[in-house]
Amino acid sequence: MHGLLNLKNLKTDQILDILSLASSIKGGRSLSYSGKRMATLFYENSTRTHNSFLMAMMKLGIQFADINVAGSSVSKGETLYDTVKTLEAIGFDGVVIRHSQNEYYTELENVNMAILNAGDGSGSHPTQSLLDLMTIHEEFGSFKGLKCCIVGDIVHSRVAHTNAEIMRRLGMEVYIAGPKEFLDDTAPVISLDEAVESCDVVMLLRVQFERNAVLSMSKEEYHAQYGLTMERVNRMKEKAIIMHPAPVNRGIEIASEAVECSRSRIFPQMSNGVYVRMAVIAMSLEGEL
Ligand code: CP
Repeated sequence: MHGLLNLKNLKTDQILDILSLASSIKGGRSLSYSGKRMATLFYENSTRTHNSFLMAMMKLGIQFADINVAGSSVSKGETLYDTVKTLEAIGFDGVVIRHSQNEYYTELENVNMAILNAGDGSGSHPTQSLLDLMTIHEEFGSFKGLKCCIVGDIVHSRVAHTNAEIMRRLGMEVYIAGPKEFLDDTAPVISLDEAVESCDVVMLLRVQFERNAVLSMSKEEYHAQYGLTMERVNRMKEKAIIMHPAPVNRGIEIASEAVECSRSRIFPQMSNGVYVRMAVIAMSLEGEL
């Protein structure tokens, strides 16, 4: 099995190589994989990751099958392993998978085509972290010494877990903030007010109700205590930026007005996702991942 499963298993140089290739593609470098065929297999809903992988494939000239899981033989009880081995047997060069089970890819060791993880349960979301890193690097030109606070439903977040590990590895200081029922040992805890006044990156997370997250307060109370209000935005450091993997719940973890304010990099993050996914697909097809 090869491809991109998580960032923990990658050397720091490999991560920097992906970011460098993504930046060069964004800068105009052209790559073509017109002889290749890939599939997407999304067992969980997605707007950004799914469609930006499709866009990345289109831009690389790859022919793709966007498989409708609900209409596949999964409904007849076919396992993930048998589904993926089938795609390999009929000639695909790689598959992009999102699945609710943490580390679902451990079942796929005997698969020989590229596997690209588009999110596994509350485990990891490697391409989201890579696009976050690309966005931070574009903004600040380096990682070392930057302070980031990840705010909100940390415990259910594959983004928080992936980002904290890799950001620390790249020399960033990482903190978490939010109600105690959403915090774990991912990073030291600070208050949101301390975060907005001291951090270079304030990264908001949505409350993941679909993973059984329970709010111990009303949405209005959550917004007042743990949401990025415009009053908090105005207290951020001069060059500090707002990030969010999205989807955004406007008015809960972030004020609607803050989503597109001058500090926000939420939509640029999504744009960078296409370049990062092009880089990851290219390196996987070349056997470099
Ligand atoms: N950020 C992210 O993973 O969004 P989607 O769930 O829409 O893919």
